[in-house]
Amino acid sequence: MSNPAQPIDVAVIGATGYTGRELLRLLARHPNARVKLVTSRQHQGTLISDIHPVLRGVIDLPCVQLDLSAIADSCAFCFCALPHGTSMEICGQLVERGVRVIDLSADYRLRDPNLYAEWYNRSHRDAAHLKEAVYGLPELFAADIARARLVANPGCYPTAAVLALAPLAEASAIHLDRIVIDAKSGISGAGRSPSLDFHFPECDENLWAYKPGEHRHTPEMQTVLAQIAGDEATVRVLFVPHIVPLERGILATIYAPLRRRETTEDLLDMYSAYYAGSPFVRVSPDLPRVKNTAYTNFCDLSVRVVGDTVLVFSALDNLLKGASGTAVQNLNLMLGLPETAGLLP
Ligand SMILES: NC(=O)c1ccc[n+]([C@@H]2O[C@H](COP(=O)([O-])OP(=O)(O)OC[C@H]3O[C@@H](n4cnc5c(N)ncnc54)[C@H](OP(=O)(O)O)[C@@H]3O)[C@@H](O)[C@H]2O)c1
Repeated sequence: MSNPAQPIDVAVIGATGYTGRELLRLLARHPNARVKLVTSRQHQGTLISDIHPVLRGVIDLPCVQLDLSAIADSCAFCFCALPHGTSMEICGQLVERGVRVIDLSADYRLRDPNLYAEWYNRSHRDAAHLKEAVYGLPELFAADIARARLVANPGCYPTAAVLALAPLAEASAIHLDRIVIDAKSGISGAGRSPSLDFHFPECDENLWAYKPGEHRHTPEMQTVLAQIAGDEATVRVLFVPHIVPLERGILATIYAPLRRRETTEDLLDMYSAYYAGSPFVRVSPDLPRVKNTAYTNFCDLSVRVVGDTVLVFSALDNLLKGASGTAVQNLNLMLGLPETAGLLP
């Protein structure tokens, strides 16, 4: 357990983005962490509170350019909130300089560099650290996260889907090769850089599917669920994401064929038992709604059995439980603190 009297100095790389902003909001009220350094390519010298005015008077540090030595000299931990492809140029080097890193991008989530190359259309340039990175879903891999030098924070859709399916996968209760995941996401999932699709008149009062069966989160879900199911299970998910005109939030509705007769009540009991020690997963007979999870680190789950199909419903805030909230939960585990430190509403 860390000494609570001694705050840990942390850096946030990519602090000007949406997940960077949420990290800073959470870290500002964290009892054991202090933001020491924030980086930006485009806004060096500008106060981070001028980029994110919500931080005015809370964190007024100037943005600095990325300097690995400066981070290693001043910070024990670093959050990396950069786009995929960029993170892998940086995270491994920080680890070698003795900094423990939580990376929010996809660069260290897929253990197999060939799978990464296939889905991300680029070769992995840090295979050494890819091998040691720990998948940072605290509800499933807490012990490994606590010891890790490099944590690969999960994707937002995979967090919703894997938490929804883990109890069924571990109990061998479903046909793992016939899972359908229909998920809706708010627009902040696309990050802060403007683009036409996410221009207000394009997405207001609109709703559309994208990348059906070919979204990059598909292999991440399949790999982690196979790991949970064990015995070299073959997992196949048909994942269809949608964009909805919300600022934040994900709702996933998941369909899976049952391998044996189950009732809704039995599965709700099974889920409640599975997540009894997980402070941020709430299981309820009530169907989840994104608004109940907005601005929180909760993932709300419910289950229904309809004939020989189980439906699982999962809601979370993509920027918090789907990104920065889980990242701080991982920091807590790495520091030996309660998982909830700085994260309860
Ligand atoms: N948004 C979500 O819901 C969500 C959920 C889970 C995971 N993630 C992942 O978390 C990471 C950050 O996401 P985000 O939504 O915060 O993204 P974002 O809003 O676009 O912010 C990313 C930041 O990275 C900096 N950056 C540095 N090098 C860059 C480069 N080569 N290209 C573009 N930006 C660069 C930019 O700041 P400067 O230009 O100031 O340096 C930018 O503000 C991504 O890997 C994303 O996939 C996002």
